[in-house]
Amino acid sequence: MFKEIDALKWNGNVFHKIGKEWMLVSAGDETKANAMTASWGGMGVLWNKQVVFIFIRPQRYTKQLLDTHDHFALSFYDESHRNMLQYMGKASGKDEDKIQISHLHLIMDHAPYFEEAKEVIIARKLFAQEIDPECILDAQVDKNCYPEKDYHILYVGEIEKILIQSAQ
Ligand SMILES: Cc1cc2nc3c(=O)[nH]c(=O)nc-3n(C[C@H](O)[C@H](O)[C@H](O)COP(=O)(O)O)c2cc1C
Repeated sequence: MFKEIDALKWNGNVFHKIGKEWMLVSAGDETKANAMTASWGGMGVLWNKQVVFIFIRPQRYTKQLLDTHDHFALSFYDESHRNMLQYMGKASGKDEDKIQISHLHLIMDHAPYFEEAKEVIIARKLFAQEIDPECILDAQVDKNCYPEKDYHILYVGEIEKILIQSAQ
């Protein structure tokens, strides 16, 4: 059971949450949904709104669903789901039904998310733009992160809802 909480009351360290725990980015609808692991992104305040931002490479299947739907979800898991997150970060929804294979139970609330999550953010897309290599000021970033020139697309989403497992 999830309960909704105010972003201002949400505890946790964003560097740990995203960078160490990792998250699932999910998008789609009842007929077609997919999720992938992400460990780059952030949360903050922009345009007077509480927002999340994620960076998705063009070849991800999740990108197709992000582009065709208004909302997406970020979800966080406890350590017992590490193998699932590894799998979701390796396999592609282009080739297999990752949600079914992971035995995740899908819930739809503007975006797909999963019963197994400990925390969920539902976000509405506000902005999407591909990283322009001409704007990268540190040549090392381009060299290290984009040897294949597959520049991320930055998505900014307004946080509409934060859900936490009510047992917490
Ligand atoms: C720990 C971890 C973090 C990742 N972070 C990102 C990320 O922030 N952005 C991204 O585009 N891909 C990231 N990936 C790679 C995608 O999760 C991976 O390519 C996935 O298979 C894409 O799935 P899809 O094709 O079903 O969308 C990450 C993978 C792992 C294992």
